[in-house]
Amino acid sequence: MLIHAITADPVYEFAADARTGLTKPGQKELPSKYLYDDVGSALFEVISVLPEYGLTRADERLLQRNASDIVARLPARVLVAELGSGTGKKTRWILRALCRRQHTSYFPIEISPAALAMCKRELGDMEAISIVGFEREYLDGLLEVAARRRPGDHLLVLFLGSTIGNFDRPAGCEFLHKVRGILQPGDSLLLGTDLEKPIPQLLDAYDDPLGVTSAFNLNLLARANRELDANFALEQFEHCVRFNPQARSIEMHLRSRRAQTVEIPRSALSVEFAEGETIWTESCHKFSAEEVRGLARATGFRCDSQWIDSEWPFAESLLIAE
Ligand code: TRP
Repeated sequence: MLIHAITADPVYEFAADARTGLTKPGQKELPSKYLYDDVGSALFEVISVLPEYGLTRADERLLQRNASDIVARLPARVLVAELGSGTGKKTRWILRALCRRQHTSYFPIEISPAALAMCKRELGDMEAISIVGFEREYLDGLLEVAARRRPGDHLLVLFLGSTIGNFDRPAGCEFLHKVRGILQPGDSLLLGTDLEKPIPQLLDAYDDPLGVTSAFNLNLLARANRELDANFALEQFEHCVRFNPQARSIEMHLRSRRAQTVEIPRSALSVEFAEGETIWTESCHKFSAEEVRGLARATGFRCDSQWIDSEWPFAESLLIAE
């Protein structure tokens, strides 16, 4: 009972994960889910409108242009669950097309309470939509939504924004497999994936000249200072972005500008950094459209259709659970 109570404390979880990641032999790391506190979620909203970062606009363009096509391919009576809704702005297009044919229940699943509140505000004006948000991790939230289905209901899971690319490839495959395990045959998954593009364009997208992505990344250390009483000197770390050609991913790191020691009392930890040493905070994998179809087959789905943006190569794939 006591163990359960302690591990369920989110600050404790961050303290434990920071300890595990920062004491790893070789590459130090911090899990990317901690980027999304209220400050991080707000900074991400700014990233999504930066001229260099075309991903969110491409995602939204595809949904806006093809919503009625997408919805026409779905069975009747769908419940919509979204994994990591953010503010839900892009989702409006799908919900609008769906509620033309039926009253629609929408379940955003989001770890950031601020993003969830914004999502309810953003979409709250739509008629024929009921919104029930879950402040949960993806699979826990999806289980809750699945528990609400009645006979004859189908689930449409939205996993947009190329969030699948923030898993390494085997973990992404395993994650889709788990999603499939919660679904029934005939349920659907609309999956957004960023496609491969020239490396300089990718580097610019994740290292904008205004420094918003840098602030987003550094907020992880600021958050550790706020929540774990750590003493990271933010000016002694810098945002750094690389393309990993083997993984076909953009890697984000925080690089120590000098040799230094950082104390993290709530993790009972003192961490030494060499000059130039990095903390790996995020990876954004890039895909080919064909690879996404293969990923679908490997995880118990078939790819019904794909829509691709030509301005910023990005794919929306409609996968049907087999
Ligand atoms: N999934 C998106 C991407 O891969 C959004 C994202 C996740 C992101 N982490 C990020 C964007 C870090 C910028 C920086 O691009």
